Amino acid sequence: MTSLSAAAAAATTAAAASRLLPSVTASAARLSYRSSVSISSLRSSPLLSRIFLPQKSSLRRLSTGRIGYSTVSPPKCAASDPDQLKSAREDIKELLKTKFCHPILVRLGWHDAGTYNKNIEEWPQRGGANGSLRFEVELKHGANAGLVNALKLLQPIKDKYSNVTYADLFQLASATAVEEAGGPKIPMKYGRVDVTAPEQCPEEGRLPDAGPPSPASHLRDVFYRMGLNDKEIVALSGAHTLGRSRPDRSGWGKPETKYTKDGPGAPGGQSWTVQWLKFDNFYFKDIKEKKDEDLLVLPTDAALFDDPSFKEYAEKYAADQDAFFKDYAEAHAKLSNLGAKFDPPEGFSLDDSSPKGQPEKFVAAKYSTGKRELSDAMKQKIRAEYEAIGGTPDKPLQSNYFLNIIIVIAVLAFVTSFVMN
Ligand code: HEM
Repeated sequence: MTSLSAAAAAATTAAAASRLLPSVTASAARLSYRSSVSISSLRSSPLLSRIFLPQKSSLRRLSTGRIGYSTVSPPKCAASDPDQLKSAREDIKELLKTKFCHPILVRLGWHDAGTYNKNIEEWPQRGGANGSLRFEVELKHGANAGLVNALKLLQPIKDKYSNVTYADLFQLASATAVEEAGGPKIPMKYGRVDVTAPEQCPEEGRLPDAGPPSPASHLRDVFYRMGLNDKEIVALSGAHTLGRSRPDRSGWGKPETKYTKDGPGAPGGQSWTVQWLKFDNFYFKDIKEKKDEDLLVLPTDAALFDDPSFKEYAEKYAADQDAFFKDYAEAHAKLSNLGAKFDPPEGFSLDDSSPKGQPEKFVAAKYSTGKRELSDAMKQKIRAEYEAIGGTPDKPLQSNYFLNIIIVIAVLAFVTSFVMN
């Protein structure tokens, strides 16, 4: 075979492979990391890079679902705009000062996220924090009674900030409400993509019932389905330190008590704690004592001190507010991410100086043959390389070993033809 025909054969093989399976370039990239032959070394050869790597600007499907041009540099736009989110946070703080709506905003965030089913992989069928709760069909689910009022409070803020998604706004409002009520700082990330149509709402029945026949096992059924554990169930239940239950909404609680008859906010309902606008550990202290007729204890609240595994945490949180705050903050952040699709995929923090926030945690072994932790510069480089071929490091594209071998043979044939000349 002449060097020309060898080169042509190599190129044809590679091109055919690319046509057969679009992920072939991704497979090549993965192989290159695994075998320590970096994409950069391919790129250093202009001809090879033209054959095996897509060019820096390529037409592909963007994470927003649209088709457009993207570049290897990190995406400049995200599902929500960080500056707008920060302004929205200030507006939420103002809203809280005048409406005292901390509890219902926390409940809104929880009910958007709490539909998540870890056994369903597809988004948005898996449910979770995707803004679906804004649609009437989901607001009408029995468990969501009254939450239309929370949506009405947030809608003017949503209208003001067109580049903030509902999914982010709901979670931002919830975390801000906890923090403004004196609770812990929640390590939140943002960039949640919204569902776009009511047909994408989850079916009714994914949220917990307050009075099931067997409360502890019901809580486990529902929260384990979300991928949460006993500690997280107990910590998250501590959010009932805020707010009230109203018989005309959920059917639970008294129409009013001495703690709620004068508001603040709309009067009435029955609270779990005396100071129901303060985020503290009194929920655990009060349901443990069960002494005050004017304070609410739902069957699912009582289960936290009846079930031996739950009780361990409930006792700890009743005795130690710092322990509660620490576990609550972690569990709340986890809850707020359930089922969410992030753009950029690693999300971003509002409290980080870098525009993209916290970088994702890379597992070195997945991307290099050595087991050492990768340097930040290398992680950035790997991310850019993956994005250039339409993937992300956290979701590597499917590998096809047969095609990988063909590519290696093609490269060898090509290089040999050069050497022979
Ligand atoms: C463990 C299972 C849970 C059950 C059975 C449950 C049930 C309920 C019920 C029946 C209400 C009264 C709603 C009304 O009548 O307006 C309520 C309110 C509330 N829930 Fe839960 N909940 C659970 C978990 C959670 C979690 C995990 C959070 C947050 C992380 C949360 C936050 C709240 C808040 C803040 C309120 C007060 C809302 C207001 O005052 O408007 N709940 N919950």
